[in-house]
Amino acid sequence: MKVQNKTILVTGGGSGMGRELVLHLLSKDAKVIAIDINEASLNETAGLAGDKRSLLTTFIIDITNKSAIEKLLTDAIAEFGYVDGIINNAGIIQPFIKVNELKYEAIERVMNINFYGTLYMIKTFLPHLLTRPEAHIVNISSMGGFLPVPGQTIYGASKAAVKLLTEGLHSELIGTNVKVSVVFPGAVNTNITKNSGLNVPAQPAAESKAIKTLLPAKAAQIIIDGMEKNLYRIIVGRDALFMDLFCRLNPKGAASMISKKMKYLLPG
Ligand SMILES: NC(=O)c1ccc[n+]([C@@H]2O[C@H](COP(=O)([O-])OP(=O)(O)OC[C@H]3O[C@@H](n4cnc5c(N)ncnc54)[C@H](O)[C@@H]3O)[C@@H](O)[C@H]2O)c1
Repeated sequence: MKVQNKTILVTGGGSGMGRELVLHLLSKDAKVIAIDINEASLNETAGLAGDKRSLLTTFIIDITNKSAIEKLLTDAIAEFGYVDGIINNAGIIQPFIKVNELKYEAIERVMNINFYGTLYMIKTFLPHLLTRPEAHIVNISSMGGFLPVPGQTIYGASKAAVKLLTEGLHSELIGTNVKVSVVFPGAVNTNITKNSGLNVPAQPAAESKAIKTLLPAKAAQIIIDGMEKNLYRIIVGRDALFMDLFCRLNPKGAASMISKKMKYLLPG
């Protein structure tokens, strides 16, 4: 779906890829509803909108709060009359801890934000999207949704759930006006670790040289291009493209390579 003059809602619009998605959509003359749990960072995003500020509306919302999302639909329609697309981007990672030692509280937090938050958005907005001439749902999964990373097993499970939710939704919506895309970013240079309330693990010099991260603005451009081309899968970054292929050819070999490469995440 072309985004110009459409109304698109972005979750997690206060930081990283979400912020850049908001700014990129505005640059293409879309009307944007940006939501985030973090008021200060969402205000910063609004401050970067420049002469497109009038096209942007922001709401402070926790996506794990189902009734707040139901109210958001009403508020969004009151403001713009309709919504044509939603980009479910808000997400967090888990503490760098093996499942055996990870507390249920941390597990539930990750699943509630990454999976249930995305699901609440979809179930709330889909009936409205089905009434639009054309509409689009974009869900941000992760390379970690098809490739196991030690110390991020529950994060990976939440993103694998987003992957299958999106692919199933795509099949269910074939023949309707609602297009569906799933996004698999590789490593993108954002503050997700800090924003998830975690310390950034020290990275060995050799690894930090080897891991090339993508700028969030580039990631946003790839995502919106993919959305405008109605792609089924949007793969973001060379690392994700390579691992997507490697995982199909040799899933155990791919898992073993990542396990060795990311060993530093789990000292001891
Ligand atoms: N950065 C990466 O390398 C990477 C790789 C693959 C996938 N992803 C995924 O991309 C998405 C964006 O990540 P990012 O790296 O830009 O992270 P980020 O931390 O920069 O941005 C995420 C935003 O989501 C918001 N958020 C968190 N919990 C929320 C909640 N309950 N309700 C509303 N907003 C909430 C945060 O406040 C933050 O502004 C996430 O879903 C993440 O899992 C990131």
